[in-house]
Amino acid sequence: MKILVTGANGQLGSEIKKLSPLFSRFEFIFTDVNELDITDRQACREMFDRQKPFFVINCAAYTAVDKAESDTELAWKLNVGAVENLVSACEICGSYFIHISTDYVFDGKSYIPYVETDKTAPQSEYGKGKLAGENVALSYSKSAVIRTSWLYSAIGSNFVKTIAKLAGERKSLNVVFDQTGTPTYAGDLALTILQIADKIAGGEKEFAAGIYHYSNEGVCSWYDFACAIVKIKRLDCKINPVETKDYPVRATRPPYSVLNKSKIKSAYDVEINHWHTSLEKMLNIKSED
Ligand SMILES: NC(=O)c1ccc[n+]([C@@H]2O[C@H](COP(=O)([O-])OP(=O)(O)OC[C@H]3O[C@@H](n4cnc5c(N)ncnc54)[C@H](OP(=O)(O)O)[C@@H]3O)[C@@H](O)[C@H]2O)c1
Repeated sequence: MKILVTGANGQLGSEIKKLSPLFSRFEFIFTDVNELDITDRQACREMFDRQKPFFVINCAAYTAVDKAESDTELAWKLNVGAVENLVSACEICGSYFIHISTDYVFDGKSYIPYVETDKTAPQSEYGKGKLAGENVALSYSKSAVIRTSWLYSAIGSNFVKTIAKLAGERKSLNVVFDQTGTPTYAGDLALTILQIADKIAGGEKEFAAGIYHYSNEGVCSWYDFACAIVKIKRLDCKINPVETKDYPVRATRPPYSVLNKSKIKSAYDVEINHWHTSLEKMLNIKSED
């Protein structure tokens, strides 16, 4: 039984690769842009026709949120057009399609954790493209879309690595305290996806198409998150809380994007770590780049 992973050199894809030896019922095909450029429709069809994957996990995406405001064409090509290519290739061999999306599909005006059926209203080009990509994925009956938030890993570039690096070099850092969400350790999400695939392949659970929310447990601001990073790393750097208006960036972020994970927990018996526990775990793993 084959699992084909796209974007396998990114944060989530790399964590899936790392965990794959634990899931011996599967044969894994790891691809990134050099092996399978998902914007190439014909290449997707040929690869899927040859490999006939049982599951496809799409970890490839355009993830530069601020750059997407001006680089909109490429962002949409990857986050929408390429999803069309993958869906049409999945249809050829009846593969289950697991697609990853984002909390940035919401406007952040809520004050209670978002459920899957809540109204979407993306505020950025990245969020708009990811929402359009979700709709493309969901047009195929064997698709599950997993929305996640504030993803980080020891691999790649992310908030945790940036703060750890800058806090090692500077005496103080300004970090916004008026955006609230939940960090997600990519290793935890990778394990959850593989466990779900394993349960479906083993007949323990049925595949149920639709949207699911997944992040670590708990709630924090970027300021709290930065303070925790500095504390765990024992760095001598003061984190100053600042307002979003005093830290201008190109793309508008949702001020509140906590995800309610009840659906995925009950559908697939998923257990989720608190964000702080997973942060400590990740910071004790030596960074790989
Ligand atoms: N990062 C976050 O904070 C966050 C938050 C919420 C949701 N998400 C979603 O979670 C998913 C995984 O994110 P991530 O952080 O793991 O992403 P990532 O680290 O940016 O990895 C994406 C991978 O896709 C590759 N890629 C780019 N163009 C490609 C193409 N044409 N064909 C095949 N592969 C291509 C990238 O290669 P290059 O590096 O060479 O471009 C990279 O290896 C994405 O859907 C993202 O939208 C992320």
